[in-house]
Amino acid sequence: MASIAIEVPVDASVGAVRELVRIAMENVALKRQMTQLEAEAHRRHRQFRELNRIGIALSAEKDIDRLQSFILTTMRQLTHADGASLWLKMEVDGIPKLFLASSQNHSLDKNTYQAFTVPVDEKSVVGYTVSVGKSQIYDDAYNPPPGKPVGGKSFDAQFGYRTKSMLTVPMRDYHNDVVGAVQLINAKRRFETRLAIDNVETEVVSFQPDDVEMIESIASQAAVALDNKSLLDSIQALFDGFVQASVTAIEQRDPSTAGHSGRVEGLTTRLAREITEIATGKFANVTLTEDQFKELRYACLLHDFGKVGVREHILIKAKKLVPGRLEVIQARFEFIERSVQVKYATEKLEAMKSGRNGSTIEEIDRRLEAELEQLNEWVKSIAAANEPTVMPEDKASMLEFLSRQTYFDIGGNAHPMLEPQEFRFLSIRKGTLDPQERLEMESHVTHSFHFLTKIPWTPVMKSIPEIAYGHHEKLDGSGYPRGLTGDQIPLQARMMTISDIYDALTAQDRPYKRAVPPSTALDILHEEAAQGKLDRDLLDIFVAKKIYLPAAAR
Ligand SMILES: [Fe+2]
Ligand SMILES: [Fe+2]
Repeated sequence: MASIAIEVPVDASVGAVRELVRIAMENVALKRQMTQLEAEAHRRHRQFRELNRIGIALSAEKDIDRLQSFILTTMRQLTHADGASLWLKMEVDGIPKLFLASSQNHSLDKNTYQAFTVPVDEKSVVGYTVSVGKSQIYDDAYNPPPGKPVGGKSFDAQFGYRTKSMLTVPMRDYHNDVVGAVQLINAKRRFETRLAIDNVETEVVSFQPDDVEMIESIASQAAVALDNKSLLDSIQALFDGFVQASVTAIEQRDPSTAGHSGRVEGLTTRLAREITEIATGKFANVTLTEDQFKELRYACLLHDFGKVGVREHILIKAKKLVPGRLEVIQARFEFIERSVQVKYATEKLEAMKSGRNGSTIEEIDRRLEAELEQLNEWVKSIAAANEPTVMPEDKASMLEFLSRQTYFDIGGNAHPMLEPQEFRFLSIRKGTLDPQERLEMESHVTHSFHFLTKIPWTPVMKSIPEIAYGHHEKLDGSGYPRGLTGDQIPLQARMMTISDIYDALTAQDRPYKRAVPPSTALDILHEEAAQGKLDRDLLDIFVAKKIYLPAAAR
């Protein structure tokens, strides 16, 4: 109550006193008005600050469920509403419907959410609000303003509740289109009050016209935030689809590596989770953020993408010789065999002509037999040398011997039994690739790197190319393509190297090598760690936490 003091001079006339009182009254009214305006300005300022805070929080929240529940909780706090629900418009078979996206109720213990849709029509309060695009205030949902739908009854019947006051506002996106609605129910005197059927009448109050403007404003901010979020989600889904398609493209070129990228991703992510959780020792301070996990996932999925730049015959080369070459060599030896038979048949004929029979012929047959056996032996050895196993010393020298042996074609021209190219491939000591082919195979890492640097990663994922680039590097510098050492190799790449080797060893047979059992694979990894090639601490965790086993067996 505004008060004002007036001092009346003792000799004042009645008229003057009256005038004085009138002015004093006016002052009182002005003072009251000023107080009200000040309070209003203060309230507006607080509201503005609150809306600002909410706006920032809305745009910062990345998780759609948390975003929706933040929207409802905030609106309930601001209006003291007991319950709230969020409805989003979507088309089902071309017909617009509103589906319940999220709901809250302070007084009901059970979860009131259920997958639920209502038509956009005048039969329900949310449907009506969206149809007319205007906020609806009900003092009693059971006794709506004339011509408007009743609210809350089926919900109340299901949950033993009484919906009384109700505020339903449309949500508009930045095109000003109605994209959904928010419904608040039962505004209370005190926010903390839990409602029961018997205290609804005393505790529930009406929503205020002031609330409408504010809730409408938040609802529209929320619509934009949800729209942004679903846009982000669809970009994410689009990108994931693209990554998945890329992985399929890589793995289709070499079917024996199917699933490799996904398994490397699984193993590496599990290892990284363990490292993040470890609170002591070398990795105590290593904590990967969720963004870094995402970064690591993509790096793993795409680490071998560069294989698209490796020619197929190298990628899937199963034997040391190029396909068809062994058959050429075998045909050549058949020809040599025929030549040898002709040579000995001629010799026998000559012997018979000159009357030498019996022991001479037998001796010629023995020599023929021995020479054919020798040829046969060589052909078998060549076929064995063509296999991708480590070559023993004696086989290597036999190949060298053959490359220096000659035979004569029908024209009488001399040729080596093994051509220099054939000798070179067959002499590969390990695997199936000669040094040049190996370099091309190894170039997949550089291809991966160049490919990945072309993608405009967001700042939080900028390390993806570098992580993938390091997946064949070894701590002692013996890896490729850059021969990095120790800390030059990112920790994430070191984790991936362990997973990559483990999976390459244990995955199904590949044309160029057989799968080994997990225990053998771990032995090989330990050996490499002992040689200073792999991070021993990471490997210890990989083994101790049984990262390599399927979840059920850990
Ligand atoms: Fe690789
Ligand atoms: Fe790989």
